[in-house]
Amino acid sequence: MSRVTMQDILNHEITQKFIKRSGLAHAVATAEYALKLSKVHGVNPDLAVKAAFLHDIGHYTWYRNGKWDYSLYKENDIHAIKGAERAHKLLIRLGEHPVNAKKIALAVLLHTDSYLPEGELHLDPLQNVVALADKCDEEPGGSHHYKQISDYDAFQRLKKLDEQIEKALEADESAQSASVS
Ligand SMILES: [Fe+2]
Ligand SMILES: [Fe+2]
Repeated sequence: MSRVTMQDILNHEITQKFIKRSGLAHAVATAEYALKLSKVHGVNPDLAVKAAFLHDIGHYTWYRNGKWDYSLYKENDIHAIKGAERAHKLLIRLGEHPVNAKKIALAVLLHTDSYLPEGELHLDPLQNVVALADKCDEEPGGSHHYKQISDYDAFQRLKKLDEQIEKALEADESAQSASVS
């Protein structure tokens, strides 16, 4: 089965409809951080980049009088829950393996604890990489959601990520077959 690429994900109508609500630039930057962090934490780069790119796809637009209303958001937000479901649906439609689609959806679900009752989440390495990548791109007052990027630049940066992921996966495979032989 051929790999579902970041370009496939970007071009899908579900992505096009929802990803810009929380910022395409934030999604791309988080995906780039996730690739770097996946190397440090020994996590599958393909899953980390996909989950990072899709982590905020569940956002609803909490606007009042044309401005983001943080208190309205804080009170009603379930973007991680909605995003997990949306990301899962999108990935299954694109032909992602169901095991991978579930792992990515769980990392989206757990990328923030802002919607959960007080307590501590115990994240696995993939979930941790996605949560850290999100934090790396965070800016005060949520301004990371308003950063701009052209569709062309987003496409180019995701294309580059695809190339880097495929290289990393190939290197992993050859390291594994070398250790077996
Ligand atoms: Fe988020
Ligand atoms: Fe985010």
